[in-house]
Amino acid sequence: MSLLDEIEPLKAAALKEFTEADDASSLEEARIRYIGTKGQFTSLMKQMGTLPKEDRPEAGKRINEAKVAIESAFNDRQNRIRLQDAMPKRATDFTRPGRRPAFGKLHPLTQVTEDIVKSFRKIGFAVADGPEIEDEYHCFDALNTPADHPARDLQDTFYVNGPASENGGNIPQDGRPAHLLRTHTSSVQIRVMKEQEPPVRIIVPGRVYRSDTPDRTHNPTFQQIEGLYVDKGVTVGDLKGTVEFVFKELLGKDVKLRFRPHYFSYTEPSFEIDFSSAMTRRMGKEWLEIAGCGMVHPKVFENVGYDPDKWSGWAFGFGIERIAMIRYAIDDIRLFYQSDLRFLRQF
Ligand code: DAH
Repeated sequence: MSLLDEIEPLKAAALKEFTEADDASSLEEARIRYIGTKGQFTSLMKQMGTLPKEDRPEAGKRINEAKVAIESAFNDRQNRIRLQDAMPKRATDFTRPGRRPAFGKLHPLTQVTEDIVKSFRKIGFAVADGPEIEDEYHCFDALNTPADHPARDLQDTFYVNGPASENGGNIPQDGRPAHLLRTHTSSVQIRVMKEQEPPVRIIVPGRVYRSDTPDRTHNPTFQQIEGLYVDKGVTVGDLKGTVEFVFKELLGKDVKLRFRPHYFSYTEPSFEIDFSSAMTRRMGKEWLEIAGCGMVHPKVFENVGYDPDKWSGWAFGFGIERIAMIRYAIDDIRLFYQSDLRFLRQF
């Protein structure tokens, strides 16, 4: 058989193998076998030089045609296999819904706190902060709260190093001033007033601690917002106006507020604020107690070095959970702390 007769069968065999190769490695093996440096077709081309001169033009033409056909068959197959390898292994159903990224959101108590802060910012209040581990002086003494006040009792307060009052003086036996987990945010009133001269216009959102057994309306940790306003000629009217503005913003225009005389050692006169709305009536109550407040006691001003004859002011404190519970009609305070996504996703 002459060399020329070998071209067609070799070409046919190469085309067949390239077409049948169904993955990258079998295609590569076929490539090496036919058109690699030592491949059968490559050696056939090399042998063309041994043909008699007159046969070479015809042979060159035919071998070139075969070469083009073989190479293009190889390229086609290679492209197809590469495409196939790049495809997903399983079919894609483009009609299926997309996968949504899980977005986090703010805890309902944080949302309510931010709303309260926003309302107070509108009327010029700044946010202040203070330590959660507080000393007896800032939590009680400076707020004119006497040593025999129940809030100072071990039963009501988490002491960190023993109550001073138990040891009959202001310093407990280990020589350090008594420290405790603050029972209210009112301690920050003292810290701010000791730091700056009047006028003062602050609110203090923060965590507080009381030795309570958890139930539907109590938890040993909860959150409060304290407010303090000090200036010249401040009146109870300013207090009522401010509190009404904020509660109407928070809980709706239909709310009614009632100020009842009360007692706090750091305010005189003192009031409790009750609140009434469609929501409280739905909860079976006309009035719901919501905050404590009053005009800053002259003794407190003296303790921080403000002249009580020159300055006047009001203060209030209320529980953030209480507001959130009213706002969202939640009947158990413990739900806020259980990190149950079924609860949290509703806000
Ligand atoms: N500290 C009080 C409490 O925890 C709330 C309070 C009442 C704060 C009267 C005040 C105030 O600033 O004037 O129950």
